[in-house]
Amino acid sequence: MAHSFKFQNNFRLGVATASTQIEGSAPASNWLTWAEQGHIKDGSSPTNAGGHWKKWKEDANLMQKMGLQIYRMSIDWARVEPEPHHFDTQVLQRYLDEILYLKKVGIETLVTLHHFSNPKWFEEIGGWAKKANAKYFLEFAEKTVELLYPQVQEFVTFNEPNVYTVFGYFYGDFPPGKKSLWLTSRVLSVLAATHIRLYIVLHQRYPNIKIGIAHHLRVYRAKRLWNPFHHLFKFGIKHFFNTTISKAFVLGRFGLFIRNLGHFPRGEYADFWGINYYSRSTVSSFADGVKQPAPINDLGWEIYPKGIAQVCKTAYRLLPRPLFITENGTCDNRDTFRSKYLYDHLRVIAKAQAKLPIERYYHWCFCDNFEWLEGESARFGLVHMDYTSQKRTIKSSGKFFSKIISQHGVNERMYAKYAKKQVYPTN
Ligand code: BGC
Repeated sequence: MAHSFKFQNNFRLGVATASTQIEGSAPASNWLTWAEQGHIKDGSSPTNAGGHWKKWKEDANLMQKMGLQIYRMSIDWARVEPEPHHFDTQVLQRYLDEILYLKKVGIETLVTLHHFSNPKWFEEIGGWAKKANAKYFLEFAEKTVELLYPQVQEFVTFNEPNVYTVFGYFYGDFPPGKKSLWLTSRVLSVLAATHIRLYIVLHQRYPNIKIGIAHHLRVYRAKRLWNPFHHLFKFGIKHFFNTTISKAFVLGRFGLFIRNLGHFPRGEYADFWGINYYSRSTVSSFADGVKQPAPINDLGWEIYPKGIAQVCKTAYRLLPRPLFITENGTCDNRDTFRSKYLYDHLRVIAKAQAKLPIERYYHWCFCDNFEWLEGESARFGLVHMDYTSQKRTIKSSGKFFSKIISQHGVNERMYAKYAKKQVYPTN
């Protein structure tokens, strides 16, 4: 079997991060509080996280060394607006400096405005469960875009509104730890209205701006093919997690669960699709299951490369827009199968490009980072982080990724050197 492949000419590759997960020197946010309350498995917190806030130049130089073409980063709302209506201009300027420096070394930035974190004060006044609170985020977002535009012309409003809401308000694992279907519905409705409002306002002000969401899309399978209940759950969960949420945010198509709080007309509220793809779920109830036996990563998630093309197809069918893989990666603590993971997923993408406009790939993650509930114990990086010394070291998978970028694909020699001998763990 031939192992080489090439990407389409306009395809660009780079990495993604999120402020709370890499910056350290953490401001007062919902996640800092959550860590202080003891919810993080290894007892770590966003205060360390590798210290990118201070080491941003070193990281930008490392990115340049790796030959990255694009970078997806997020702005920490809690750092920018430590008190309501009080904006720290030095903080915003520091973000702009980073973006300008990246530009200088040839890396184009895509900015996420909300990646799971809220200022502590916002959480204390009821967070996203209160429709009236959306005005605070709108003010922050407008101020941030005003400063960053036109150096940055592409923005993601919300990262994974489905994961943020379901984990924070239905399962209660993420802050604010609520377990209420009513609140889940309420928060999704407020987030969707905020996305659409921002989409409209920013387009009025900046005609060339590009706005989207980074949507977590999964592939689903029924646990037992012969069991009608498993199919029913599969259909229900898939419909809710993937489709209902996409339709509300991106098309303004609301229903009983996600309500149209802003009386928006149906429309097209995204200029690109941001797709975060990690895994496939095996469904037999409301809980998330994994196929047995299956290749899995160190967190037990099934590795299912074909799925990345399947979710792109689903999204494109809903709204034909350029597809950006805004996240894809795996927890491989010893870096023994990440190169194979990269190879398998990128190969599927290269093939799918014949039919789908997949234009970007942002690998998750640039470096090992504060992985939410798992803390520092789950490593997703192409760059190894020593959390004590904050020393960064490019992993073997990071070197493979650099090669892939410089070759705009994979050749037999690269495959043999990095991916061929790797084996996925199984459950
Ligand atoms: C999130 C990231 C997270 C990654 C791996 C995504 O759901 O956007 O912040 O680190 O998954 O768990």
